[in-house]
Amino acid sequence: MTRTVYVNGAYLPEDQATVSIFDRGFLMADAVYEVTSVLGGKLIDFAGHCARLARSLGELDMASPCSEGELLAIHRELVARNDVTDGMIYLQVTRGNPGDRDFAFPDASVKPTLVMFTQSKPGLADSPMAKTGMKVISIDDIRWGRRDIKTVQLLYPSMGKMMAKKAGADDAWLVEDGFVTEGTSNNAYIVKGGRIITRNLGHEILHGITRAAVLRFAREAQMEVEERAFTVDEAKAADEAFISSASAFVMPVVEIDGTAVGTGAPGPVAARLREIYLDEMRKAAI
Ligand code: PDD
Repeated sequence: MTRTVYVNGAYLPEDQATVSIFDRGFLMADAVYEVTSVLGGKLIDFAGHCARLARSLGELDMASPCSEGELLAIHRELVARNDVTDGMIYLQVTRGNPGDRDFAFPDASVKPTLVMFTQSKPGLADSPMAKTGMKVISIDDIRWGRRDIKTVQLLYPSMGKMMAKKAGADDAWLVEDGFVTEGTSNNAYIVKGGRIITRNLGHEILHGITRAAVLRFAREAQMEVEERAFTVDEAKAADEAFISSASAFVMPVVEIDGTAVGTGAPGPVAARLREIYLDEMRKAAI
């Protein structure tokens, strides 16, 4: 089946969808994005992703391409047209095509570009990695200073994934001034003595939509949560480690730089949070 994608108001077969070579997303990485997961044909935490998209656009003085209601309708139309049961919807908004290359932002007459497409991943919530856990390496965090804005500047995260692959690991945790910021495409957590520890919000990390839900569910389940920075050594000495993202949900981390975390197997806190997250989010999916 040819995938149907969305570009600026049109639903098109993927091989007919195009964006200008002058688009600022292409020339300047002047674009923001969201990834929303789909489980059982329904959207997970759509409101959260919309709220963060609005914030990213606002921080960059970028116009919104359409209303939240229209975005929801496009998401649903793409799920239906592509018959997606489990998977993700990728959404990207750029500052549009000013018709030439210029560092200055174009005036308001240039409309933002909106591109959306589906990625079908049958069994997304049943990933075998949830049972085995993942291995991470630590690398320097040399990204820009506004990681709270979800921009498409993903070159260094891509390089980080390749460094991990080369080292026989699954992902990299980024380290700045001695402290872990986050994973290449996820938020990072450790568990020590029953306390869940994760980096506090700020410009240093993306404000994960999954993170917000996971911490809310953890607190509701009377688990202790501490939002603060932690070091790689502290993570290696932790009882458990895990990550969260819209596409991985909650995923255990069992090894950091070759050192086993805790027993070296996925821990009970990560397993419990994954279960609660998936149960609650499936119930609230729209
Ligand atoms: N990545 N931190 C970074 C750097 C991310 O790229 C992501 C998400 C997260 C987790 O955010 P959320 O829970 O809202 O997905 C944290 C997405 C999944 C991606 O780029 O594919």
